Amino acid sequence: MGSARRDRSILLTGMMGTGKTSVGRLLGRRLGWRFIDTDERVEAHAAVPVRTIFERDGEARFRELERAVLEELPTRRAVIALGGGAVVAAENRTLLRDKGTLVWLDADPEVLAARLPADDERPLLAGLEGAARVERLRQLRNERLAAYRSAELRVATDDRTPEAVCAAVLCALGREDAA
Ligand code: S3P
Repeated sequence: MGSARRDRSILLTGMMGTGKTSVGRLLGRRLGWRFIDTDERVEAHAAVPVRTIFERDGEARFRELERAVLEELPTRRAVIALGGGAVVAAENRTLLRDKGTLVWLDADPEVLAARLPADDERPLLAGLEGAARVERLRQLRNERLAAYRSAELRVATDDRTPEAVCAAVLCALGREDAA
């Protein structure tokens, strides 16, 4: 693999609860690359949590801030955990194509619901528990399937620890040397 291709940033997409942040941190450590979480960057710019941006200014404002963060992402030697909805807008998908290799982490909605803590602060799940939460996750995943499928790779996370997902991603990228 040429070094330009080998050094391309890795972008992790997929639903909340697929482990983008935990897996991204592990990948960064294995490759010796920096790790960036786009939600954290949005929060740093806005100086308030994502939940507050949604409550105070609405989802559209959050998406504007998210878009600005996506534009600044480095194209080389970074592992980037995207917010679960970052790939939904077609303009964002076009932008992200030039930023690096897009990898979709996937899992069944039941698995996602079991992984997300009960007191989770994600605004798109606010007030939902049990079966209603699973249903919401299923609906969102279905709505977003076409966007997630635009990724170059899909890695199933259902029965895997973050370490095993990290190894599977490295393998799928031909980077067994770092696994
Ligand atoms: C969102 C997922 C969240 C965060 C925001 C919206 C989504 O990120 O960006 O709450 O639209 O799926 P995670 O996927 O990191 O939870």
